[in-house]
Amino acid sequence: MIPPFCIGDKRYFLDILREAVLMDQVLEEVVEALRKVKELEPDLSSGRLFIHSYETGNDELRAIALEAYKLFYNSNALNPLVFRSALYFEREVVGFSRELMSGGEDVVGTLTYGGTESIVLAALAAREAFRRAKGSSVVPEIVAPVTAHPAIRKAAWLLGMKVVETPVDPSTKKADVEAVKEALGPNAVLVYVSAPNYPFGTIDPVRAVAEAASDKGVPVHVDACIGGFILPFMERLGYTLEPFDFRVDGVTSISLDVHKYGYSPKGASVVLFRNPEMKKRTIFVDVAWPGYPFINTTILSSRSVAPMAAAWATIKYLGFEGYLDMARKVVDALREITESLRKLGFKLSGPLESPVISLYLDEDERIIEFHANMSLKGWIIGLQPRVKGLASYNVHLTISPIHRRVAKTFIEDARKSLEEGAPRELKEVYEIVFKDPLKAAKGVVEARLASIVIALLLSMIPPGEAAEMAKELVVEVSRR
Ligand SMILES: Cc1ncc(COP(=O)(O)O)c(C=O)c1O
Repeated sequence: MIPPFCIGDKRYFLDILREAVLMDQVLEEVVEALRKVKELEPDLSSGRLFIHSYETGNDELRAIALEAYKLFYNSNALNPLVFRSALYFEREVVGFSRELMSGGEDVVGTLTYGGTESIVLAALAAREAFRRAKGSSVVPEIVAPVTAHPAIRKAAWLLGMKVVETPVDPSTKKADVEAVKEALGPNAVLVYVSAPNYPFGTIDPVRAVAEAASDKGVPVHVDACIGGFILPFMERLGYTLEPFDFRVDGVTSISLDVHKYGYSPKGASVVLFRNPEMKKRTIFVDVAWPGYPFINTTILSSRSVAPMAAAWATIKYLGFEGYLDMARKVVDALREITESLRKLGFKLSGPLESPVISLYLDEDERIIEFHANMSLKGWIIGLQPRVKGLASYNVHLTISPIHRRVAKTFIEDARKSLEEGAPRELKEVYEIVFKDPLKAAKGVVEARLASIVIALLLSMIPPGEAAEMAKELVVEVSRR
């Protein structure tokens, strides 16, 4: 745009023109570079991802979420009195989530940036209640089954708490209620259960656990980060599932992620609290410092409203019926894929209770070969490690609506992958991993068979050393 005062001033006019051309060039170069970086990532709409992605394949939905993102990309949720949008989106998204979880009028919530943050806030509410009653000289304990998402261990690490791990039933992969009862000592401040857990997709016996916990006055957090936006719809489609929401007495908080089966872009999760007192315990206020009133309901302070707006737009666009439609697609794909894989000899690691499944074969080696062949065919599926007394190597699939489109190709490739035997690349991986695990770890970032390298390494190296190695690697790869 050439400012009007340039008319007649030829030299100035040409300067501006030159600058505009240069700017166009810079813009093109930056966009070109962005596209190149994007090429490093898998294409979500291809349906080839079975981890970390919840793709609908609906272009209209994507366009709407993107529009919301654009409109609010630089609005700051730090101060809802200035940026009113943040409060509006939060109220709406929390309201929808509360209905999904059958929460009563007293249930309140916070819109966070992700499941981990929601879980940290739930742990914080529990810790603060305990501290008020007993002071801060004892370490508060969270009782959680081994299948608990690491977010709860991270919460404990951040908040000076301790996780007391309890076993799960090896066949159902559900929390062992008796073990939870035994673990509920005098310093227990929270019990964590999943609906469902990430590794095996099974739902913990929430009612029985909640009964045991409330007998001792201990609150219960349900991690429904995966299940919150899909299980209620699966129930409507005829699945009989373990009750896990606020209908269960003793459940005091629930986390559910809009950016998982709520299908919004990343950066949106909700934590719901049974009553306002619990939420109050998670709010940090500093009105005594010399600046603006600092009132934080989340871990971050300044943060973009964009993911909140996109979450709202996604919920608004889909509505209850839209979610039900998506759930239909998910369960169709789930049925087709599990039934076909079972016919090929795969076994489910636990009962089928969610769209997250884990499958294994009788011989460990064959599942690793299978995973390698599928990876080489461009499928991104999880390979989960062997855990003594719990699971052999297994593959993890998170089924999304888009998978209905690709189910047949997936199954055909699965059949071929089983027949093919070990690929050459896998033999190379074995050789490096067994000869020099550290070198193998360093190669992980670039490796095409990264999941295999990681799963093998994890099963070979003691956890403490593996963690150290991971930290060293992360620092290395983040350096220029
Ligand atoms: C059961 C469960 N809880 C919590 C989380 C953490 O969610 P986020 O990655 O959004 O922090 C995940 C992530 O996969 C999960 O599967």
